[in-house]
Amino acid sequence: MTILNTISRVTITHAPTALEYMPQMSALLNRNLYVKRDDCTGLAGGGNKTRKLEYLVADALANNADTLVTVGGIQSNHARQTAAAAAKFGLNCELVLEDVQGTPKTDYYKNGNVLLNHLLGANIHTVPDDLKSIDYTKALMSELSEQGKTPYLIPVGGSNEIGSLGYVQCAGEIITQIQTQSITLDHIVLASGSAGTQAGLLAGLILADIDIPVLGICVSRSASEQVTLVTELLEKTLTLLGLDKNLAKKRVFANGDYYGKGYGIPNKEMIEAVNLCAQNEGLILDPVYTGKGMAGLIDLCRQNKFMQDSNILFIHTGGSQGVFAYQETFA
Ligand SMILES: Cc1ncc(COP(=O)(O)O)c(C=O)c1O
Repeated sequence: MTILNTISRVTITHAPTALEYMPQMSALLNRNLYVKRDDCTGLAGGGNKTRKLEYLVADALANNADTLVTVGGIQSNHARQTAAAAAKFGLNCELVLEDVQGTPKTDYYKNGNVLLNHLLGANIHTVPDDLKSIDYTKALMSELSEQGKTPYLIPVGGSNEIGSLGYVQCAGEIITQIQTQSITLDHIVLASGSAGTQAGLLAGLILADIDIPVLGICVSRSASEQVTLVTELLEKTLTLLGLDKNLAKKRVFANGDYYGKGYGIPNKEMIEAVNLCAQNEGLILDPVYTGKGMAGLIDLCRQNKFMQDSNILFIHTGGSQGVFAYQETFA
């Protein structure tokens, strides 16, 4: 991973995060299930964005930024971790948050990540219904510059080739852990949204010349759209790493059967997955990403899409703070 070490990075992740066996879930599903505890990355509750922010914040500081600006849904975990990173590095933080139709409403606007964003001192902008977040953000960036600030825009989910490097790093960590624990992984499964986590993991595996299939369970779009999104970002990440972008071919897999009616909208499969992991492993998933990702993993095991006794690693990408915004769903 030498090329990765030449790219500037701040260190904020509590790494390596644990890679643990899930004994009860394994027995339930007749597969050897492991979990990578990236819900425990350490920054204001943790989650996958912490790793991406190590590279994004370093880039912001290299560009003399004094303000981090980012975009997401009202309950964005990425927004919360960006607010925390900004606080840690003495930067201002502007969060542009969009409402999401179809989510439970009782606690959605004040609890969970929103409550933490306030505690972390972020300035929150709610995008008016008649505006697109991209237009709102452009105007905000100009306004901040006019005020004499130096804003740095982090894309939705921290998903560009710089942010993806966090998961190139994580792939290296996983490779060391499975070698140390003598695990031969057959599959890696994760929830895939803005694509940086899946693209970064794949780039890291390609960099190490290791071919473990990585299946992204879509949380907001069809499998074919997700494959396109992940592939494009994987190609850019490979290029940044000085590798041939054609190595992305045939490496990206996605399944779009489990996000239900849409992003952040609860469904019964997600609720079952969250309950099963909590009650069998003491593991708290989240309603928007990992709950749906795990619902996919559970169903694919039940349908025998994964061979019996295969070794599967689920990446817990965090988000459990979001359950507090979904109390009516889990009540
Ligand atoms: C908890 C959680 N899991 C998974 C994801 C998806 O990661 P990515 O956007 O890199 O695909 C996110 C993104 O916001 C998230 O917050």
